[in-house]
Amino acid sequence: MDILNGRVDKADENGKRAVRSFVLRKGKLSQYQLDAVEKFSDRYVIPYKNGFIDYNDYFEKDQKLIIEIGFGNGTSTREMSLRMSDRNFIGIEVFLNGFTKLLHQAGTDRIENLRLIRFDAVSVLNDMIRDESVDGFHIFFPDPWPKKRHHKRRLIQVPFAQLLARKLKKGGYIYCVTDWEEYAYQMVEVFDAVEQLNNPYGGFAEPASWRPVTVFEKKGLEKEYPINEIWVEKK
Ligand SMILES: C[S@@+](CC[C@H](N)C(=O)[O-])C[C@H]1O[C@@H](n2cnc3c(N)ncnc32)[C@H](O)[C@@H]1O
Repeated sequence: MDILNGRVDKADENGKRAVRSFVLRKGKLSQYQLDAVEKFSDRYVIPYKNGFIDYNDYFEKDQKLIIEIGFGNGTSTREMSLRMSDRNFIGIEVFLNGFTKLLHQAGTDRIENLRLIRFDAVSVLNDMIRDESVDGFHIFFPDPWPKKRHHKRRLIQVPFAQLLARKLKKGGYIYCVTDWEEYAYQMVEVFDAVEQLNNPYGGFAEPASWRPVTVFEKKGLEKEYPINEIWVEKK
């Protein structure tokens, strides 16, 4: 399995790469991360493919499925999957350093309800995830792309929100958190514009008691940025 060198996105029908919500950061991996790829990939990594997957092929228990997009270093993903053993988690991340950190944790902690995909989440959802098969999406501190000319790279835009809505089961949720206030308002507006979604809070939500503080959240808190939570559900 080519976790280390394989592509993490694909070209569109014209052979061009679409606008991406991420820039790949390079960084040398430590030996323990390289060892994790060797030891744990077969068990924990779901390789990208252009075809729907069956969750039962990867998880021992048939239970609710939560997909986390952009887990970063995965510290909060690890905590949530350990604490909520009655759910299955799929974490999607392109950033190799963070990806291999969580792979190492999953393997050493033997977390049975967590699997990882290293590929662009937009393609993963379109190509691998069946419609109406997901119970919840977690998108914690997506890159804010603060400059106006970069706003097109933001993940939370109407077409992506429609894609998430299509993949959710009825009653399923999307839970986003951001420390970039203007993006937080954009998220509320974007989800309001999607007919299938309902915002039970009207605006921002209360923080969920079970959500661990993430690495990016800590940085935002140090700068005294406001943390805004957005929770919407599929009608
Ligand atoms: C600002 S970081 C937040 C990480 C983590 N959720 C946290 O709060 O610490 C956003 C992450 O999303 C990932 N990301 C952005 N777009 C993505 C995409 N289309 N598919 C997969 N991962 C993506 C980036 O690589 C980055 O690690």
